[in-house]
Amino acid sequence: MRIDILTVVPELLESPFNHSILKRAQEKGIAEINVHNIRDWATDKHKRVDDYAFSKGAGMVMMVEPIDRAISELRSQRVYDEVIFLTPDAVKFTQQDANKLSMSGNLIILCGHYKGIDQRVRDNLITREFSIGDYVLTGGELAAAILTDAIVRLLPGVLSDETSALTDSFQDGLLTPPVYTRPADYKGWKVPEILLSGNDQLIDEWKMDQALERTRRIRPDLLA
Ligand code: ADE
Repeated sequence: MRIDILTVVPELLESPFNHSILKRAQEKGIAEINVHNIRDWATDKHKRVDDYAFSKGAGMVMMVEPIDRAISELRSQRVYDEVIFLTPDAVKFTQQDANKLSMSGNLIILCGHYKGIDQRVRDNLITREFSIGDYVLTGGELAAAILTDAIVRLLPGVLSDETSALTDSFQDGLLTPPVYTRPADYKGWKVPEILLSGNDQLIDEWKMDQALERTRRIRPDLLA
C-alpha cells in the first residue's frame, strides 16, 4: 500500500513513521508512506498556499490551486482508491473505516490547516472526509498520523501473531479484557487466580466476561 500525505507542515510528520512498527512496515516493503509539502505546488514566488477568506473575520483559508495541482500530479502517476480530507467537521473515523481502507492500494490524505480549506477542494477533489474526534487540533497532521497508523498496522505481515489485530478492542465490538505479566504477586497486587490455573477454557470464559463487563462500564454505547 502507498499513502501520500499532503501538508503545509511536513516536519510534524517526520517522527511518527520512522520508528517501531510503522518503520518496519516500510522497510519490509509492505507500506510506502510519502509526506509532501503543498508549498511545492504553489505558483507564486512567495510559495503561498493560503489567502484571506471572502467572508470577513474568517481568517486564512487554504487555496484551491496548489492542492489541485498536487493531487492532479499524484493522480497522473497512479490510481488512488480515496482522497481523504481530515477535518473536525466530518464523520468520526472508526475501526471499521480502518479495516476497509486497509484493503486499498493507494491513498491520498490531505491535512487541513489555518481556518479551513476552500470548499471547492472538498466539493471537487476529496472522496472521503474523517474527523478523529470531537475536538479541534491545530491541523490535520496528527490526525493523518493516527489514520495511517490505524490502517498500516492491519496490513498482512505488519503485526506478528501475538500482536494480531484480530484481538484488538473494537474488532468484535468489545473492549479487550485486562492482561497481566510476571510477577504473579507484586506488593500484594495479585494477578487473578484463574489466569494461573492453566485451564484454557475457563480462562477464555473469564476473558469474555471481563470484556463484556468493561464494555458495559466504560463504553455502553458499543453494546447498544
Ligand atoms: N483537524 C483539526 N482537528 C481535527 C480533528 N478532530 N480530526 C481530524 N482533523 C482535524
